[in-house]
Amino acid sequence: MASRIAAGEVVERPASVVKELLENSIDAGATEITISVEKSGTSLIRISDNGEGMSPEELPLALERHATSKLRSDEDLFRISTLGFRGEALPSIASISRFEITSRQAGCESAYRVRVDGGSKTSAQITAASMGTTVELKALFYNVPARRKFLKSLTTEFSHICDIVNRLALAYPKIHFRLEHNGKTLVDFVAVRELRERVDQVLGREVAESLRPFEYRQGVLSVSGFLSSAPAAFPNSRHLLTFVNRRYVRDKILTHAVLHGYETLLMKGQYPAVVLLLDIPYDEVDVNVHPAKYEVRFRRQSDVHDAVARAVRQALRAEAQQPSGRSFAPWPQYSSAVMEVSLPYAISVSDSVESLVSETRREVFVLPNHSPQTRPGFFSSLNVLGQILGCYLVCSSGRGLALLDQHAAHERVAFERLRQQMRANAVERQTLLLHQIVELSAGESMMLEKKLDLLERYGFTLEPFGASAYAIIAVPALLPEGDYRLAVRQMVAELAEIDQSEKLGQHLGERLATIACHSVIRANRQLEMHEMRALLRDLDDTDFATQCPHGRPVLLEFSREELDRMFKRVS
Ligand SMILES: Nc1ncnc2c1ncn2[C@@H]1O[C@H](COP(=O)(O)OP(=O)(O)OP(=O)(O)O)[C@@H](O)[C@H]1O
Ligand SMILES: [Mg+2]
Repeated sequence: MASRIAAGEVVERPASVVKELLENSIDAGATEITISVEKSGTSLIRISDNGEGMSPEELPLALERHATSKLRSDEDLFRISTLGFRGEALPSIASISRFEITSRQAGCESAYRVRVDGGSKTSAQITAASMGTTVELKALFYNVPARRKFLKSLTTEFSHICDIVNRLALAYPKIHFRLEHNGKTLVDFVAVRELRERVDQVLGREVAESLRPFEYRQGVLSVSGFLSSAPAAFPNSRHLLTFVNRRYVRDKILTHAVLHGYETLLMKGQYPAVVLLLDIPYDEVDVNVHPAKYEVRFRRQSDVHDAVARAVRQALRAEAQQPSGRSFAPWPQYSSAVMEVSLPYAISVSDSVESLVSETRREVFVLPNHSPQTRPGFFSSLNVLGQILGCYLVCSSGRGLALLDQHAAHERVAFERLRQQMRANAVERQTLLLHQIVELSAGESMMLEKKLDLLERYGFTLEPFGASAYAIIAVPALLPEGDYRLAVRQMVAELAEIDQSEKLGQHLGERLATIACHSVIRANRQLEMHEMRALLRDLDDTDFATQCPHGRPVLLEFSREELDRMFKRVS
């Protein structure tokens, strides 16, 4: 009974069994693993590998609780390099299924088999099998009806199995993974040399094509992988995959760091596709904190956060500087709502991150054929044909047609400058000829009273005006002419929220700058040719110029192929 209770923690569903067995095969050095399941694993799961196998003496031991072969001393527990380390998985799985394991060790003439059924275990019996190990289990949860009841539909359970296979496949490109369901081969990831090829296999061509490689080192930490650059984005975080020492984990620090790297580049509710591999010394991370090992604990978590956020930011920055060569065809799932991305998790990141990043940004994205120093900026190289509808610039580019949203462009330029000025505590301001009056609730105006100095620092001069109203006297010079009341109101709301969380305060400048730049409505205006050219030059001098600070695209580019396709010219 006790073993069945423990099994519940490790084995929640068929996919958990697949995960444990695959991890064992990988730990055994297998290069080929076949997973066969029937009825989404509820009636059969069989996993065969060509790993090192077990001797007839080791085989029954593998089914004893806490009989792991992977840790030799107590200290090993503090530098775990294998996927398994507890000696829990096999006995747990065996206790809740009709189970058999067959193994033949390298150099051994014969294979041996042990069966477990209803808690009783046979002795190791000689049998014929090729080198490696096969674990087969039937009727999962046959003796744990409660578990069985909690299983979801067969389709859902199978999709969990696919997720497990996909993640391990991404972490181990050199292993050949095959997945069969009800006798049909559904996945056949042949061994490849490069992660890039595995990413193609697992995520599919379409997603994989929107990904760029990245690489970053910070002390003992190494961060690498593939990430999507704007405007590619997805409606959920399904493609945000993080690995620590090749173990797939769902870690809020890592996820937050990745999203922080994307801040101001994605629209609300959109997520990037990222395959991120963090390599960290084994003694810097505790993997023994979650029954299914999906969570880890970092010894220096803010270092890890920093490194990951920088890695992502640096790659995206380099990518946005040379946008040509990527497809800018509009992504279908753009939602119409334009709001700020807000992160659910707060952690400190030093402001100096950005400056450090800019110093090293050219190291990774080395673009073919162009030396970034001599080449004119991408935006200045566009040939301006004109402006339409008072808000779009129409240009020809080296690849075809380029359209720019002049408001989004202005917004990004103003945002980056305002952010810099804020950081340097030197926001230039303009005094308004006509003061604008904002009426606030009693609560809001009490709040604001305490924050007047802060807003002053960010370029907004406000003075009390009657009981609960304020007059806007001056605003940052970078903002366009207009109505600033909405901006002030939103900033007050933001400040009230930030008051609750000290840590969020660290990004305050950035948030206020976003609000300020966004909430002042930009009027449609006919631009002169020299103004359009100046705007393009400004974009070249601006980080992340391909997106406005809310993640809307600044630029859409249509290549000849795309235009031909749209005109149905392709045969
Ligand atoms: N496919 C396999 N090939 C070779 N040896 C295996 C295989 N699967 C299991 N073993 C052996 O059986 C032992 C028990 O496996 P089990 O998964 O229960 O524990 P573990 O992997 O050591 O730890 P954890 O419970 O964290 O997975 C392993 O330590 C290993 O020695
Ligand atoms: Mg194991």
